[in-house]
Amino acid sequence: MSQHDRTFAITFVGVLGFLVVLAVVFYFIANSVVKTGGSAGENTQATQIADENIKPVGAVTVADQSGASAASAGPRSGAEVYNAVCMACHGTGAAGAPKVGDKAAWAPRHAQGIDTLNSNAINGIRAMPPKGTCGDCSDDELKGAVAYMLNESGFKVTVAAAPAAAAPAAASADAGKQIYDASCMACHSTGAAGAPKVGDKAAWAPRIAQGVDTLVNHAINGIRAMPPKGTCMSCSDDDLKAAVSYMVNESK
Ligand code: HEC
Ligand code: HEC
Repeated sequence: MSQHDRTFAITFVGVLGFLVVLAVVFYFIANSVVKTGGSAGENTQATQIADENIKPVGAVTVADQSGASAASAGPRSGAEVYNAVCMACHGTGAAGAPKVGDKAAWAPRHAQGIDTLNSNAINGIRAMPPKGTCGDCSDDELKGAVAYMLNESGFKVTVAAAPAAAAPAAASADAGKQIYDASCMACHSTGAAGAPKVGDKAAWAPRIAQGVDTLVNHAINGIRAMPPKGTCMSCSDDDLKAAVSYMVNESK
């Protein structure tokens, strides 16, 4: 090799090496831009949209959930029971269990009707053990788990609030009685402080004549010796309405 060739070779290798290093640097820069930059954002967005799209139609809030978490001794929610007990088979498909999320597997079962599914979950069927092995699960807890599983598999299932759920949501007679027993009875069954006694038609007739709206309004805001909300500070207006209708119905 001549001196000239040697110089050329050294320069050539040097330039080549520099280009390789540059390529590597660009590679890492490009990589980090992809990971942290705009396209990563799009990715998350795309994932979110996909998640949104594959979400079960009409996911259902089980009415007893808030009650269950408020009172630790209350019934477990469908999700809690499922995660603790049912997932072992229904998350994996073990023993031939229909997998949660597999809509096709659940469709013919769902078609049997929720009552049949509940009863099969409670009593067992073929390889499905009675109560799904959850010996201390109440029927309502199992129904909650079935509803949860169906909802997670793309079906729309509503569950009636478990009876143990303390806070009555609806203005039903039952809810009204519960609130009355808990908050109003102290005065209204004894006549304490001059409260009109429930069942005393004569005492209630002129009050009922004011109209239920006025009575509810007085129950919410208080009137004379009747304290606001009858001292039930956690009662919603609907709760009070339910209690008033209960009291009125019992006193007509
Ligand atoms: C040891 C495994 C196992 C556990 C644990 C289990 N399952 Fe199952 N489950 C099965 C199998 C297997 C089937 C399919 C039975 C068949 O149709 O042959 C099934 C089917 C069902 C069905 C459909 C019944 C029908 O009529 O098609 C429901 C509902 C169900 N399980 C609810 C539950 C609930 C709720 C729990 C938890 C409390 C639970 N399972 C826990 C194995 C299990
Ligand atoms: C501390 C005692 C006390 C409690 C607890 C109480 N009340 Fe009363 N309530 C009264 C008294 C006293 C009156 C009569 C007020 C008056 O007309 O002077 C009354 C009157 C009423 C009236 C009639 C108001 C009217 O316009 O005539 C309604 C309705 C009522 N209470 C609802 C309730 C409800 C619902 C609760 C429970 C959430 C409740 N009360 C709890 C003492 C009580």
